[in-house]
Amino acid sequence: MTIIDQEENLYWSDDIISSLQSIIVKGNYSEVFALCDKNTYQHCFPKLETIFKLENVMVVLDGEKNKDLAATHFIWQKLLEIQADRSCLLVNIGGGMITDLGGFSASVFKRGINFVNIPTTLLAIIDASVGGKTAINFEGVKNVIGSFSKPEATIINPGFLNTLNERQLKSGFAEMLKHALLSGGEMYERLFHPEFFFSLINGKDIVSSIRFKAEIVKTDFTEQGIRRQLNIGHSLGHAFESYFMDKQSSLLHGEAVAAGLLAECYLSSLHDELPNVYLEIIAPAVKQLFHWQTIPEEHFAEIIRFINQDKKNTHSTLQFALIRKPGEWFMSNTVKESEIFQTLEWMNDTLKE
Ligand SMILES: NC(=O)c1ccc[n+]([C@@H]2O[C@H](COP(=O)([O-])OP(=O)(O)OC[C@H]3O[C@@H](n4cnc5c(N)ncnc54)[C@H](O)[C@@H]3O)[C@@H](O)[C@H]2O)c1
Repeated sequence: MTIIDQEENLYWSDDIISSLQSIIVKGNYSEVFALCDKNTYQHCFPKLETIFKLENVMVVLDGEKNKDLAATHFIWQKLLEIQADRSCLLVNIGGGMITDLGGFSASVFKRGINFVNIPTTLLAIIDASVGGKTAINFEGVKNVIGSFSKPEATIINPGFLNTLNERQLKSGFAEMLKHALLSGGEMYERLFHPEFFFSLINGKDIVSSIRFKAEIVKTDFTEQGIRRQLNIGHSLGHAFESYFMDKQSSLLHGEAVAAGLLAECYLSSLHDELPNVYLEIIAPAVKQLFHWQTIPEEHFAEIIRFINQDKKNTHSTLQFALIRKPGEWFMSNTVKESEIFQTLEWMNDTLKE
């Protein structure tokens, strides 16, 4: 097991069983529980099953819709039934849905039990399992109930990605693009190169992306300052995700972020900050990742309604993380509803097939 970031408890491991075992031994836990969704139970859990007692394994339905209070209830009920005490450990084996759900459930059960993340999607590896944010969705609003709570360890084994489909890999790559845009420099030059395609990513790209986020969250764990840059793409991204959630063409989280990133780059250019030339580089990189469904103009107000629920807003003003150029971001509280309408029109136009 090699250390990616000691302070953030991030490890890279080619031998997942012995790495998890060493953490369990070190923690001297009373019991060890596993949380999977039905897909990670099928594809990922078999690599770890010798560690767990059969009755200590919890399996929930997969998908964003199930990152909810009902699943949280199921986990708490199961932990109570098995008489889990405060010295037990919950191991979250899955994508961001599972690391968010398991992390949140663990963070408040008996005022907090320890948990370990074993991320099994690219998105969870480079983003969701890094930085100690946990959450569930409530009343159709994304991540509105949650906590800041650090895992005992996040163990990364890219071997889990072998069973992930292309759409999910692209969804994770969207968050890597976000990190690259915010970081600027080498990461930006490589990932936004016109000949770079998501399938070219390697272990070094993954570690750079993780370290970029880890460095930020280390200085600003509870998002009072520089961590807010990581929300770029998310104000509109979450609104797109919520809007499409109940439609036939629902978006994956990373797809929504990719769309949000492009939309917020356009907003940045509307504010005379990001030069237009960057839109010509960013748009094709984002377009390779998902298929945009046109949002009818009569639904634009619905997007605004979702943006108004954004956790970042304060004193009734919309707060957006925007960008001046790769590597230079800023917070804006001057985005107007009319500019969001204009952005949605631009998105419909730019991303149509
Ligand atoms: N806490 C944070 O900082 C943070 C950051 C970014 C995203 N998130 C959250 O992460 C979630 C999205 O995460 P995600 O994209 O990983 O989605 P996900 O967890 O829903 O996983 C996507 C799908 O892939 C399946 N899957 C997972 N691993 C697999 C594997 N190895 N092989 C085959 N199938 C596999 C899952 O069952 C699911 O159907 C969202 O809820 C988002 O809000 C949280």
